[in-house]
Amino acid sequence: MVGQVRDGSLEPQEESALHVIATWRDPDGALLRPAVAAVELLNVLRPTVAVSVFMTSAAHALHEHGDWQHKLREDQGNLEPFVQEVRRFYPFFPAVAARSTKDFRWRDYHFPQGRRILLDLTGTNSDPRTWDAPGEFRPDRFQHWNGNAFTFIPQGGGSHDTGHRCPGEWIAIELMKAFCDFLVGSITYDLPDQDLSIDLSSLPALPKSRVVISRIRRRTSLRHDRIEVPAD
Ligand code: HEM
Repeated sequence: MVGQVRDGSLEPQEESALHVIATWRDPDGALLRPAVAAVELLNVLRPTVAVSVFMTSAAHALHEHGDWQHKLREDQGNLEPFVQEVRRFYPFFPAVAARSTKDFRWRDYHFPQGRRILLDLTGTNSDPRTWDAPGEFRPDRFQHWNGNAFTFIPQGGGSHDTGHRCPGEWIAIELMKAFCDFLVGSITYDLPDQDLSIDLSSLPALPKSRVVISRIRRRTSLRHDRIEVPAD
């Protein structure tokens, strides 16, 4: 596809990731090698598709905590606290790994050069020293959250600007908000009998049956700013 954009046989929209990456030029004016451009494109596509795991978790949470369906429908200001709590509560990416480039001490720990280090994302997001009742699903904890970059780290911690923290975090949050808004505001559905238990030993930790919905119907009282469900 990168080759097709370059020879003109494919004309994606200018603001699309495919167009931007295929036509990107470095400071010397050179295009990316096709293989490199293809990997860059996959680096946008792959994590975007991965957000479906958090969406499944959000659908699971809306079922387990049905009162939040109403709260999200009534006030879109509740969407962000809700999806933040989904990202905190449901373990998706359990840990990130690194290797120390130099010998150093941090607090009482010695890190020899070359040592493999794991940062426990799930453990940090549910650390009782930081979170009140971490095992409970309580979106309200994010109504007045202080934004600490080291205590809530579902997509990596620290600074987005100077470290490797996930730059797609805002995209993931916005996709989840749009999905939840659609689920509670634009359609009604049933949940047939299924196994919604979560096996924490699998990665990603999803409900055994995923979340299967049936008898999907368009909501009759659509708000004007909600996504329309096509009639068919
Ligand atoms: C399902 C939601 C996602 C999860 C759980 C997730 C998780 C992560 C994690 C744990 C890291 C490594 C952070 C670190 O090393 O400290 C990362 C890096 C990265 N993520 Fe995400 N991510 C998600 C969605 C996205 C999206 C939607 C995009 C972009 C469209 C994206 C793009 C990236 C990139 C480019 C990096 C590498 C950053 C770097 O090395 O400097 N991610 N992500």
